[in-house]
Formats: sequence, C-alpha cells, structure tokens
Amino acid sequence: MTHAIDISCAIGGKKLPSLIMNASGPLCTMEDHLRALCQSSSGAVVTKSMTIEPRDGNPHPKYADLEYGSVNSNGLENLGVGRYMEVISKLKKEFPDCVFIASVAGLKEEDYYNMAAEIGTVADLIEVNLSCPNIPGKPQIAYDMEASDRILKTINTKTQAPIGVKLPAYCDPVFLKEAADMLMKHELAYLSLINSIGHTVHVDPLTDETVIHPNNGRGGLGGAYIKPIALGQVHAFYQLLGNRIPILGVGGVYTGRDVYDYVLAGATGVQVGTAYMQEGPAIFTRIAQELRNVLAEKGARSAQEKLGMLKIRGVNT
Ligand code: SIN
Repeated sequence: MTHAIDISCAIGGKKLPSLIMNASGPLCTMEDHLRALCQSSSGAVVTKSMTIEPRDGNPHPKYADLEYGSVNSNGLENLGVGRYMEVISKLKKEFPDCVFIASVAGLKEEDYYNMAAEIGTVADLIEVNLSCPNIPGKPQIAYDMEASDRILKTINTKTQAPIGVKLPAYCDPVFLKEAADMLMKHELAYLSLINSIGHTVHVDPLTDETVIHPNNGRGGLGGAYIKPIALGQVHAFYQLLGNRIPILGVGGVYTGRDVYDYVLAGATGVQVGTAYMQEGPAIFTRIAQELRNVLAEKGARSAQEKLGMLKIRGVNT
C-alpha cells in the first residue's frame, strides 16, 4: 500500500502532489520540454533560467556526462522572458493543475525586477537565480551579500508571486551564517540548494582536452559528485533557519534513497538535474515510487514526518 504514503509538500502557499521536481537547467528550455514536464509526475514545472532577451548561450560543446555526474557551461541559453510568458500562459490552460516556477537570471540588477514584474503575472512562483557560474565577466551574485539583499528586497516589491532563491554552496560556516541572516530578512517561499559547483575541469584522456569548450574549458559540476556538498548545505541551512524557509535540495538525486537523505537533512523537496537530463521525464515516477518504498521500510506515512530527522552519530543513538 505504498501509494498511500504522502510525498506531497507545500511551498509558497502551493500544494505540490510530489516533493520531487525538475531543477532549472536541463530539459526545461523549450516549449516541448515544459509540456513533457507537465505530462510527467514532476511535482512542479521549473523553467530554464530566463533573461530579458533570448540567448544562444555559450558555444558548444558545453555539456558533458561524466562518470558520476555532469559538467555544463550552458551560458543561460533561453527563449527570453516574453516567450516564457506566452508558453506558461498556454500550458496553464492545457494543464491547470500544474504549478509553474519561472527561474529568472538577471545580467544586471534591473533585469531581475523587470522580469519578476512580468513573469510573476503568469507563473505561480519565481525562482531567483543568484548563482549561475557560467557567464564570463558576471559574478555569482549570491556571494555578494549586499547585492543579494538589495535584489531580494526590491524584487519582492515588484511582484505578488512568491519568491524562491537558487544559491551556490557556501563552504564555510561564517558565510553560511551571513547568508542565513541576510535571507531571513526577506519573505521567501524556498531556498534551492545548490547550483552546480562552478569552474571545474574534466580532461578527456584520449585527447588531453577539456571535455567542454566555454570558459577555458571550465564548467559547473552536477550529479553524484556534489551530493555530499549539497546535503551539507541543506543540513546547515536547516539548522540555521529551522522551519522559517523551506529548502529544496539539488545535487545528485538519482534514487528515492537520495531524496530520503535530503529530507532527513532538512529538505522539504528536491529538484533533479543531471539524472533528469540522463533519464528523461519518466524519472519522476520511478524516484517517487522508490521514495515511497524507503518511507514504508522506515515505517513513515509521509515524507514530511522525516523532515530534518537526520541523526548525528554518537548524539542521538
Ligand atoms: C547556465 O545556463 O549556464 C546554467 C545556469 C545556472 O547554473 O544557473
């Protein structure tokens, strides 16, 4: 009877039937991708990070599968906010029960405000991407607390749509605390932790070349390589924020057990990137069933029952 186990969650006042959804990035750029997500068991439909104008992004090859994950330097290839307004409006009519999360990535601060004002009229939530590592000459804004503070404060005045934030890893407790203090000043629907880890190099042993071309061959690392780092970020932010801001864990979600680990660490939901790229939309049904099986084995009737229940060796046992 595992189907009776509740894997729903709520973010930004929206109830999602499954806490497992796609991550902004892979296979969510084109209308067909987004339609396939609407037809899948993904708990929400998250768009590719959009910019004001359409972009081709960085030159190819800009994505490679790796033994334990993937590397990309996509460069925000997307259709532009105007086209996503049309696509989301259309898909909402076809799939009225779907929850749409529009990811926005400004090339300058005003872009965030202008896009939020527009896309917030059609999308259910906005994911503010402050952590793209792949645009030459542009920093990952989330490492600048003052700029992030300003953007989150202003963007919330520009739209009624609830706002989530996509962050990079802060691998130092001082910066984690600084980020948590800054984030707590704002009304946020969720944190998405974490974006790919930027500027990594992978060598093709046959050619002695980097496996991707842009940014001198350096790109954002995703997949199983980064799961322990992402789990650490979820765990640390959960301890700092408690239940004040729900967390979505991202990084190395391939199985129901991976999702369960994120829930234990404090994630209300998860977003699937590399594994969705590699397996396609059927992955959401498989992982959901696996999660229900894990929860049944643990004697839990819902995923949220296990939220933040990670035991620390030698403390809780
Ligand atoms: C990209 O388009 O380069 C990836 C976006 C991101 O990682 O935020």
